[in-house]
Amino acid sequence: MIDAVGQPQSLLVLGGASEIAQAVVASVAGRRCRTVVLAGREGPRLTEAVERARSAGVDQVEAVRFEATDIEGHGELVRSLFDRFGGFDMVLVAAGVLGDQQADEHDPVGTARVITTNFTGLAAAMVAVADRLRAQGYGRLVVLSSVAGDRARRANFVYGSSKAGLDAFSQGLGDALAGTGVSVMVVRPGFVKGRMTEGMDPAPFATTPEAVAESVVRGLERDAQVVYVPGVLRWVFAVMRHVPRTLWRRMPA
Ligand SMILES: NC(=O)c1ccc[n+]([C@@H]2O[C@H](COP(=O)([O-])OP(=O)(O)OC[C@H]3O[C@@H](n4cnc5c(N)ncnc54)[C@H](OP(=O)(O)O)[C@@H]3O)[C@@H](O)[C@H]2O)c1
Repeated sequence: MIDAVGQPQSLLVLGGASEIAQAVVASVAGRRCRTVVLAGREGPRLTEAVERARSAGVDQVEAVRFEATDIEGHGELVRSLFDRFGGFDMVLVAAGVLGDQQADEHDPVGTARVITTNFTGLAAAMVAVADRLRAQGYGRLVVLSSVAGDRARRANFVYGSSKAGLDAFSQGLGDALAGTGVSVMVVRPGFVKGRMTEGMDPAPFATTPEAVAESVVRGLERDAQVVYVPGVLRWVFAVMRHVPRTLWRRMPA
């Protein structure tokens, strides 16, 4: 059960090998999370994530196959996991791809891959998760969105629009769950230094997976609905939304 300060004892991660997710697992493990299921693409990264969760002190760690674009399989996967583990206090939605904007904006398959992975596939999984959380009457659904979804940039609009869709969907789902004991927290990090952004010049206010994890834990404590990382980006993007299009389209990725 979720403890008095909002921390989960059981966690399901969709996108279990994500660097940010691994940092979140390490943070909640230090606060008595004892069961973690890492649902992700099979491979060495997922195996390493399992090892890292065990080293962080999680007693029961399991990896299961999750492919975000395998939409038909989501219902059965979620049903079997909730049945087998007796439910989860928290579900973290962490899968995502950045894509290659320059190539994807000329490639129907590349564009669809980013949008299906980041939005359609995850939204489909989230409705299955939401129904199980609603039935158990408690739980937190934490979704890794991005400031890129606050306003799509010319240099990054395939990824940005996929995050805008995921973000809007998550907020609507949170409203649909109001009063059920289940809540949704949307996390909007800026540039996070790590595998996804490797080789890119850090944007202003660049942060780390550990800082995102810390903000997730603080957000759980105060039952936040939207969390920016770092927090200053809330105000930066409140202004950015009003920058004229002629200037906005020159913003770098
Ligand atoms: N890094 C940033 O600057 C940043 C900023 C804001 C928001 N975010 C968001 O935060 C989340 C986590 O990102 P991260 O920084 O931790 O990057 P990451 O380490 O690359 O994690 C992304 C994870 O998504 C998984 N994934 C990709 N396609 C998938 C698919 N089709 N099915 C299932 N899993 C899939 C990847 O699996 P594999 O390990 O198999 O590749 C990887 O484990 C993402 O949603 C990302 O968009 C990141």
